[in-house]
Order: sequence, then C-alpha cells, then structure tokens
Amino acid sequence: MEKGPRKRILVTGGAGFIGSHAAVALHEAGYAPVIIDDLRNSRKSAVKGIESLLSVPVEWHRVDCGDAEAMKPVFKQPVHGAIHFAADKAVGESVAHPEKYFDNNVGGTARFVAQLRNHGVQHLVFSSSCTVYGEAEELPVSEDAPILPAASPYGYTKQACEDLLRITHAAAEGQLGISILRYFNPIGAHPSAHLGELPLGPPPNLVPYLLQAVAGNSGPLIVFGDNYPTPDGTCIRDYLHVCDLAEAHVAALRWLEQHQGALDVFNLGTGRGTSVKEVITAFHLATGLDVPHKIGDRRPGDVTAIYADAAKADEVLGWRTTRSLEDCLRDAWRWQQRLQDTPS
Ligand code: UD1
Repeated sequence: MEKGPRKRILVTGGAGFIGSHAAVALHEAGYAPVIIDDLRNSRKSAVKGIESLLSVPVEWHRVDCGDAEAMKPVFKQPVHGAIHFAADKAVGESVAHPEKYFDNNVGGTARFVAQLRNHGVQHLVFSSSCTVYGEAEELPVSEDAPILPAASPYGYTKQACEDLLRITHAAAEGQLGISILRYFNPIGAHPSAHLGELPLGPPPNLVPYLLQAVAGNSGPLIVFGDNYPTPDGTCIRDYLHVCDLAEAHVAALRWLEQHQGALDVFNLGTGRGTSVKEVITAFHLATGLDVPHKIGDRRPGDVTAIYADAAKADEVLGWRTTRSLEDCLRDAWRWQQRLQDTPS
C-alpha cells in the first residue's frame, strides 16, 4: 500500500457478521474502513469489538445506507470504494415478508449504488450468495453455472441485485468497477474472540444453532433430514472461515483497483463439500465436545448439496481459503464461550 492517508472504504452492514470481519481485514491491509450500519440486525458492541481488536477508533455512522440525505456527511471526505453487505438474510422470513426483502435488499442496493455514482466512487464489491445457483445440476458449481429459479424470495433478491449491478455497470460506462462475490457458507469467528456472529433474534444458521445446543442454551440440534441422496444422508455445503472470506474482499478491491471499470463474479468457498453429520464430527475433533443432536424432518427449500468450484478466485484474485473446518469450529466455540461470559 502506498504512503499517505488511508483510503476510505464504506462498509455497509459493517456491524454485521461478515462486515465486521471485513472491516478488520481492510484496516490490516492499510485501508480506512468506514462502517455504515443502522443496527437493525446488529449491535454497537460489534464496532467496539473491531476497535478493541485493532486498538484504534474506527469511523462509523449509524445510518441506513439507502438514505441519501442521512448519508451526506459520509461523503464529505473522499470515498475510494465500497463493500455492500447491508441486507436481510433470513430465508424463512423472506417467505413470510417478501416485500421487506425486495425493499431492503434490492431497493436498498439501488439507492446506495445511486449515491456511489453521484459521488464518483469507482469501486464496489457486492455481497452475493451461492443461493443464486439454486439446486445446481453439476458439482462443484462454477461461476458459469446457470442461474436457476430462486428457491426463496431472499435468493431472488440476490439474483435481482446481481442483474441491477450488471445493468448499472453498463450505464456507468467504465466509471464504476464492480466485483460480485458469491459466498458459500461462512462460519467461524475471529480467533481473538473479539468478533463473531451476533444476530438479534433466533440464530438463523447451522453453526449458531449447534453452538446453542452445545452450550446448553437450547434443546439438541435438529439435523434437518438424513434421507438425502448423499453418502450419510445429510445435506452437503461448503463451509468457509469468516476471516478467509473477509480477506477475499480485500483481494477483490485490489483487483478492481488494477482493472478500472471492470465487472466480474467470483465464487468464494473452499471447494470441499461437508455434510451436516461431518460438521458435528469435526466440532468434536476441534473441541473435544459432543453436539447433542437428533434427526428431524427436512427443512423446506434446502438444496441437497452445493459446493464451490473456487478456482477462478484463486487464479484471478489470488485468493484461497487457508483455515480448516476444525479452525472454524474451534473459533466459533471460543466466541460462544466469550458471549456466555460477557453477554452484550
Ligand atoms: C442458505 C443459503 C445461503 C444464505 C443463507 C442465509 C443456499 C444453498 N444457501 O444457507 O446462500 O446466505 O441461507 O441464511 O441456499 N441445518 C440443520 N439444522 C439446523 C440448521 C441448519 O440441519 O438447525 C442444516 C441445513 O439443512 C443445511 C445446513 O445445515 O443443510 C446449512 O444450513 P444453513 O446454515 O441454514 O445455511 P444454508 O441454508 O445452506
């Protein structure tokens, strides 16, 4: 990184799970992360966690990134780029309240991107999801795989945002470079236990449920079906460490700096598929603890198996995962223990 003031990078949803880890990675890479978060599904303590981890104050604004008027102060100083995480992500809730998902995820992205264009910001990294592939016909799934009808309104909003960004990219005629990142299943926590997943309300995903079950805060983990056509009958996903994922955002930003006005899409995963039962076994290997669990019904909308062909991110961005599944689960458990000791 060249000398001079750090370049400001807006991190919408920067108090959230992935956003907070990305803010740390940006600072460590020499940028100045600017956290934009209205705390609708996150806590101020995440910003404090970032600051205590980095031992520096971090610029942050409690504001809806889609609110152009309220965002004006953010643009008073130059903005080099943006990483747009802010979105709702609960698949079940999106089925019950699709209009909320269209408004916040698609409308919010449109309103935010309009501000970037108005202020001449040249680099945008967008948080998409492997959910855009639906039940993929071929595994591992590469970026060229067809985009199938979405299994949920949440999935549809990610597809719609990708379309919105492609169309906006064309309209911007080289003035806005965009990197679309399709995450597989981010888990884990910062190894320092300063940061981790801190959703408001019930935990939405496998690992938070698993941690609650091990900590004795809930009943056993319910494994959603063991009669899928997979080797052990449980669903297969590609779980990656949130710190690996955070580093991918720095790589994507650097790539945009070197390819002014470009647009491309990258899978971010390990390239390995892991079943739910294998996650339970890996947790025991990582921590020595058993996961109380029982087999339940299938969850509507779950795909049987999906994992990434992650070669493109490696070849083009020079990024690949370095942390193991056991690292992920050990760090997640450490975070859970910290939460038990100091609930926020
Ligand atoms: C899905 C999307 C992902 C999106 C995420 C948002 C796909 C393939 N993935 O993740 O892109 O970002 O939602 O929330 O569409 N499970 C249990 N018991 C539990 C919880 C989960 O057995 O209590 C199983 C699920 O059946 C699944 C696996 O664990 O097989 C992972 O589930 P989860 O962590 O919810 O993530 P996805 O549904 O894969």
